[in-house]
Amino acid sequence: MSNILIISDNEVLNSLYTVNLKIYTGASVSTCTSLEDAIEYIENPDNKIDVVYSLCMIENEDTALLAYHHLIENGREVPIIVIGNQSEAPDEVSVVGNPYDIRGIVQQAASNLGITAKDMAEAETPDYYPMPIRMYFSLETAPCDTYYRVREKDGKLRYHKIFLANEGIWPKVKDYLDEGVSTLYVPAAMRFSFAKFVTGQLIDKLNNVIEDPKSKTGEKLDVVEQGIETVAEQIFEGEMTKEVIELSNKCMETMEEVIDDVPDLKKLLKELTANKSGFLYSHSIIAGFVATHILDNIEWGGDSHKEKLKFVLFFHDMYLTSVYKNHPELMYEDKLIFDGNLTEEEKEIVVSHAAEAAEAIKRYPKCPLGVDSIIRQHHGTSNGLGFATTYKDDISPLAKVLIISEAFTEEMYKTLQNGQKVEIPVIIEGLTEKFPKHTYVKISKTLETLKL
Ligand SMILES: [Fe+2]
Ligand SMILES: [Fe+2]
Repeated sequence: MSNILIISDNEVLNSLYTVNLKIYTGASVSTCTSLEDAIEYIENPDNKIDVVYSLCMIENEDTALLAYHHLIENGREVPIIVIGNQSEAPDEVSVVGNPYDIRGIVQQAASNLGITAKDMAEAETPDYYPMPIRMYFSLETAPCDTYYRVREKDGKLRYHKIFLANEGIWPKVKDYLDEGVSTLYVPAAMRFSFAKFVTGQLIDKLNNVIEDPKSKTGEKLDVVEQGIETVAEQIFEGEMTKEVIELSNKCMETMEEVIDDVPDLKKLLKELTANKSGFLYSHSIIAGFVATHILDNIEWGGDSHKEKLKFVLFFHDMYLTSVYKNHPELMYEDKLIFDGNLTEEEKEIVVSHAAEAAEAIKRYPKCPLGVDSIIRQHHGTSNGLGFATTYKDDISPLAKVLIISEAFTEEMYKTLQNGQKVEIPVIIEGLTEKFPKHTYVKISKTLETLKL
C-alpha cells in the first residue's frame, strides 16, 4: 500500500483529501496540521512516505517550501505537491492551485503512484440530494455515503465523498459547520430513509433535553433547529408518520419553553449566533419571542392564541427550507423572488410557500382550528400567494401579529447589519409607516415595552 502525507491546518480540506485519496488511490493517508509535526513525521525513518501534499502557506509561512527542503535534507526522494499558488517552491514541484480542485489533487497522486485513469474510474455517481448539515448532529455514524459539493476550477459542480456509510462522523462534521458549510449531499434514493433515521435519533435527543433540568437554552435551540429541518424533509413529499408528528410536537414544546424562559432579545440573538443558526430558523424564533410579547400585551391576546402561534411558528416557512439549504447566504423572504441565484422552480416555491404550508398543515392531527389560515396569510395575502404590498384588514388578527413580528425582526436584522444600534421607537415608527391601518398600529404599539 502507498502512503501519502498531507500537511495542512484546514480540517475540512484534510477530511476531503483523506477520504477521496483513499477511495481513488487505495493509499493510506496521514495528516500533519503544522510544519513542526510534519518535520517530526518526515524525520522518523519508520514512516514510509510516497507522496507529500502541502498547503503552500500555514500561518504566513511558506510551509510547502520548508517541507520540500526537509525532504531533501532527510534524503527522501519523495515528490511534493503544493496546494495553492503562493509558494516559492522551485518550478519542478507540481502545484494544484485551487485547494478545492479535488480531481486535480487525486490526479496528482495517481500520476505519482502510477495509478491509471482506468483504475480510478469513478464509482457510479448517484443523483445527489441536499441535506442540511445539522441533520447529522444527532448521529454517531453516517447512515449512508455522504458527499460534499465543490465548484471546481472548470466551473462545474462536483460531489466528493466525505463519509462512507457507517463511518464515524465526529468531530469532522463539526469542522465542516465551522468552515461555513451548511449542506451535505446524500444519494437521492436514500433521502427518506436518512430523514426517518434522523427522526428517531432526534426524538431520543429531545427527550433527554426536555427531561434534564440542566439543559441550556442554546442546546434546546440547536436540537429544535435540527428538528425543523428533519420534519421539513418528510412532511411535504413523505408521509406524516407518527414519528414525524411526535418530533414536531416535542420541538414545538421546546421552542415555546425557550421563548418563555429567555429574558430578552439580546440573549436570544446571542444563543442563535453561537449556534450558527440559519436565517430561516433564527428569524422564526425571534419573531416568536416578539409575537409572544404582543399577545401578552394586547387586550384580546390569550392562551388559545399562543397555542396557535406555536404551530404557526414551527410550520409557516417550512417549505422554504428546500430553498435556503441551497442558498444559505440569503436572508429576507420577500427579497428572494428578485434574487438572480434562485432558479425559476425555487422562485415558485417562494411565491407559494404560505399556501403550500397551509395545505400541508391540514393533514396534521390535532392542529388547533384556524392555524392553516394564519399560515396562509402570513405574508398579508388572503390566498397565501406572493407578498402583500398593502396590508389590509381581510386577514385574521393573529396573522397580523405574525406579520408585525416578522417585520420587526427584519428591521432589527437590517439595523444590526448596518452596524447601527437597535432603537425600538425607531423601528416602531418604520412599522407604522409600512402598516398604517389602525389594527396594525395597535399591534406595533405594544412593542414599546419589548425588552431588547
Ligand atoms: Fe417567515
Ligand atoms: Fe414566510
